[in-house]
This record gives sequence, structure tokens and C-alpha cells, in this order.
Amino acid sequence: MVRGAAVVYPKDAAQIIGLADIFPGAHVVEAGAGSGALSCWLLRAVGDHGSLTSFERRPDFAEIAAANVERYFGASHPAWRLVVGELGQDGITGADRVVLDMLAPWDHVGTTAAMLAPGGVVCCYVATVTQLARTVSALRDQGNFAEPAAWETLQRGAEAELLRGAGMLPVGGVMGDAGIPGEGVADEAEASGETVG
Ligand SMILES: C[S@@+](CC[C@H](N)C(=O)[O-])C[C@H]1O[C@@H](n2cnc3c(N)ncnc32)[C@H](O)[C@@H]1O
Repeated sequence: MVRGAAVVYPKDAAQIIGLADIFPGAHVVEAGAGSGALSCWLLRAVGDHGSLTSFERRPDFAEIAAANVERYFGASHPAWRLVVGELGQDGITGADRVVLDMLAPWDHVGTTAAMLAPGGVVCCYVATVTQLARTVSALRDQGNFAEPAAWETLQRGAEAELLRGAGMLPVGGVMGDAGIPGEGVADEAEASGETVG
């Protein structure tokens, strides 16, 4: 895959898809599209009858994302809309899920609450514990989300080894790079676009 921005790897994409409950037919908003790696995972999860709107502020990265997604699916995907510009600029409402992989998701919690349907979920993927703490605080302070869950993802492989007849040994390294999602659920009563500025 040609890369502009750093991509989301499978260990983290799997967590995002599973724990943010990205389901077939879901209406999902994503920012930023970056290189389009997470867009491919999200499109696989929502399928042809869902929708994914991906915002990317950098036209050069948007071009790379568009080429990567088209190469991955072998054609343009019917559920995908790529918007070159700032997250939320076209007034989306009623989204089931919002997935943010960007430097400062805490600046966008109000926009996110306005985009989500009641009961919708936001999943923020950040690279450092400092970003994670700031994201969790912003979601709490925004007031329209249930208590956020936060975690780090580490993955250790296992190698089949002959160990006195049978057994598995863990391999030496743990893959733990930039994989710290945080997640909040929009409050049923307050998450509509009308109540959040
Ligand atoms: C780490 S990259 C995303 C990588 C992507 N998830 C992937 O797997 O290929 C972050 C991207 O967010 C974009 N971005 C940051 N703030 C944004 C905003 N407010 N609106 C739209 N895009 C934004 C950046 O230009 C950058 O391309």
C-alpha cells in the first residue's frame, strides 16, 4: 500500500471494528482518511448497503487514500464517499459510528456528538497516553457521552516449537506501537444534532 499518512495496522483495525461495533449496513463517519487503510477495513465491515464518509483535509493524502481503496476493492466502492476537507464540514447527522484517527480528536467532540445518532459510538485512535488522557477528558467534559472506555492494544505472536514433544513459545517481541483507542457512547437523550452546537 502506498502511504502518505501512517496507517492503521490489522491488530488495531480488528479492535476498532469489533469494539466500536462496526456492523453491516452501519452509517459510519471517519477522519482522517490518511492513506485509506482504515477506510478499507471500515468498508469491508459496513458492506455495500452501509455507508462510510471519510474526511481528509489534505488533498495529497486524499488522493493516495482514493487510489489505495480503489486498488484494494478492484473498483470504486459503492458505500464510500471521500470528502476533501475538515471533519463535519457538510453537516452530517444520524451517524451510527464515528471513528477518529487524527492528531487532536479532543477538538472535535462537539462536532462528533452533533453527527452521531442517539446511542451512537465514537472511537478515537491515538498514538500516545497523553493524547488518550486528553481525549477521555474532552469526551467527559463535552457532556453528551457515557463514561468513555480506554485501552491499549498489544499483540504478541506465538511460534510453534518442539518443546519436549509439544507446545508453543511466545516470540520475542510484542507489537505495541501506536494503538490506543478510546471510545464513548453518545447519550440517548442528548446526542442529537439539535442539542449540540
Ligand atoms: C494518522 S492519519 C490517518 C491514517 C488512516 N487512518 C489510515 O489508516 O490510513 C491522520 C489524518 O488525519 C487528517 N486530519 C487531521 N485533522 C483532520 C480534520 N480536522 N479533518 C480531516 N482530516 C484531518 C490528516 O491530514 C491525516 O491525513
